[in-house]
Amino acid sequence: MVKQIITVLGATGKQGGSVINSILADSAASNKFALRAVTRDVNKASAKALAAQGAEVVAADMDDKESLRKAIKGAHGVFAVTNFWDSMSGDKEIAQGKHIADICKEENVQHLVWSSLLNVTELTNGVLSEVHHFDSKAKVEDYIRELGIPATFFLPGFYMANIPGMSLRPSPDGKWTLGMPMPEDAPIPLFAAERDTGKFVKAIFLKHEQTLGKRVYASSGYTTPLQILEAFKKVYPTSGKDATFQRVPNEAFKGMLGQMGMPPAIQEETLQNMRLVYEFGYYGGEKLDWSQSVPIVDEPLTTFEEYIKGNPAFSEAH
Ligand SMILES: NC(=O)c1ccc[n+]([C@@H]2O[C@H](COP(=O)([O-])OP(=O)(O)OC[C@H]3O[C@@H](n4cnc5c(N)ncnc54)[C@H](OP(=O)(O)O)[C@@H]3O)[C@@H](O)[C@H]2O)c1
Repeated sequence: MVKQIITVLGATGKQGGSVINSILADSAASNKFALRAVTRDVNKASAKALAAQGAEVVAADMDDKESLRKAIKGAHGVFAVTNFWDSMSGDKEIAQGKHIADICKEENVQHLVWSSLLNVTELTNGVLSEVHHFDSKAKVEDYIRELGIPATFFLPGFYMANIPGMSLRPSPDGKWTLGMPMPEDAPIPLFAAERDTGKFVKAIFLKHEQTLGKRVYASSGYTTPLQILEAFKKVYPTSGKDATFQRVPNEAFKGMLGQMGMPPAIQEETLQNMRLVYEFGYYGGEKLDWSQSVPIVDEPLTTFEEYIKGNPAFSEAH
């Protein structure tokens, strides 16, 4: 049987890398699909590792439409993720997304999986109008729908990677503190992007007919700051004994981001991203049941407890 080619953009990154791992590790998927992994630099170690795993590695730049065409030509499916944070520009992310969509249309791709997010300005009636990295992905989703490309929209939850060492770390007094600018019962749709993206995306490609046109909310579950703290206490009982949650006031949160070198516009964007979680819902209040039924049942999604076991950011925790 001739294998169908799946082009994976962002293949050296968290989401795309997970797609490659999941498909290659699954005999049903790897018998059906051949992988074409895209990077701007085929000579770097992570690209060479993809080739060693069995993917065809090709060079392309999402800013260069014709290089993308070579990477996508002949493919049955495409997994596409753009990285807003590389340029911190919504316009650039939209332009990259439109390049991908145009080529998929022109090359008659049968299944595009677009890594999307919601349009927060629309969802919140303009209350939160600065979450550009969400809005720009949603605008590309609209464009893909307008072009009538057969597509599924994969919406990654809040990365678990954001928490260890960032929101959850020792305070100057040595006590572990989870500090977030949200209430203790805010519903955060946690997601282990580097481990679980492929579980969803592989299943989306395999369940082509059932997933076309749909949004898949990729999260292992809504988890509150207090539940995050409980998981830490369970995995690291000694350090966890006097660990606490502290709600960081909005202005203090922006101040902390400023100290890390983030410009004021990105401080505000990040704060609004956090406000989205508890004021309107990261997914606008959508339930996760159907989305969680998409991955194959014998591949459970990663829980936060599993994720933090042995996490290098917690090497000092016991
Ligand atoms: N952090 C969160 O909680 C969260 C939640 C939901 C969604 N997201 C979104 O996730 C996205 C990032 O995905 P990720 O975590 O998988 O990223 P990542 O691990 O940082 O990897 C980025 C990938 O994009 C590729 N890339 C960047 N610019 C490129 C270009 N011009 N042409 C071709 N390839 C390019 C890189 O490939 P090479 O360098 O090899 O070329 C790399 O493989 C962001 O847009 C962010 O908004 C994040």
